[in-house]
Amino acid sequence: MAILHVVKYGDPILRQKLKPVDFDSLKPRLPQLLQDMEETCLAVRGVGLAANQIGLDLRMALILIPESDKKNAPLKRVVIINPEIVDKRGEIVEEEGCLSMPGLWVEVPRATDVTIRFLDETGQERKVRARGLLAKAFQHEMDHLDGHLFIDHADPALKPAIKKELKKLRTGWD
Ligand code: CO
Repeated sequence: MAILHVVKYGDPILRQKLKPVDFDSLKPRLPQLLQDMEETCLAVRGVGLAANQIGLDLRMALILIPESDKKNAPLKRVVIINPEIVDKRGEIVEEEGCLSMPGLWVEVPRATDVTIRFLDETGQERKVRARGLLAKAFQHEMDHLDGHLFIDHADPALKPAIKKELKKLRTGWD
């Protein structure tokens, strides 16, 4: 078990389009990797963590999301491997943050409803339609796998302010 270092904004791996996972060759190390990713995500109170955020060139991400709307609902782990968007609907603009840019919160537009296809942690192909926080997490994590960051979706008029804020925040990151 280990809490891993989360790669921060400015590291080139966050701008890399990640390689598809060959499930069978990853399988032996997958349980340990997922456990480490889950612990890391919990330790920094994140909703999701993509592989490049821990320095790995793999198209996969882990999401930790409450099982229900109830207060203090237990977290459910959703692992998406080689995900693809099948369908996207609606638009909502909401504040988002990222473990690779701690302290920065910016409003970005997202689809309200997404359907994605992926391999789950057992290697089974799944198709899931999501709304709410899970839909947002799918889009945020899938961006990471293509080397995109949530701030790329921000209003261009906000970009100079975001840049300035990042410059200030960076001095406090590990
Ligand atoms: Co992120």
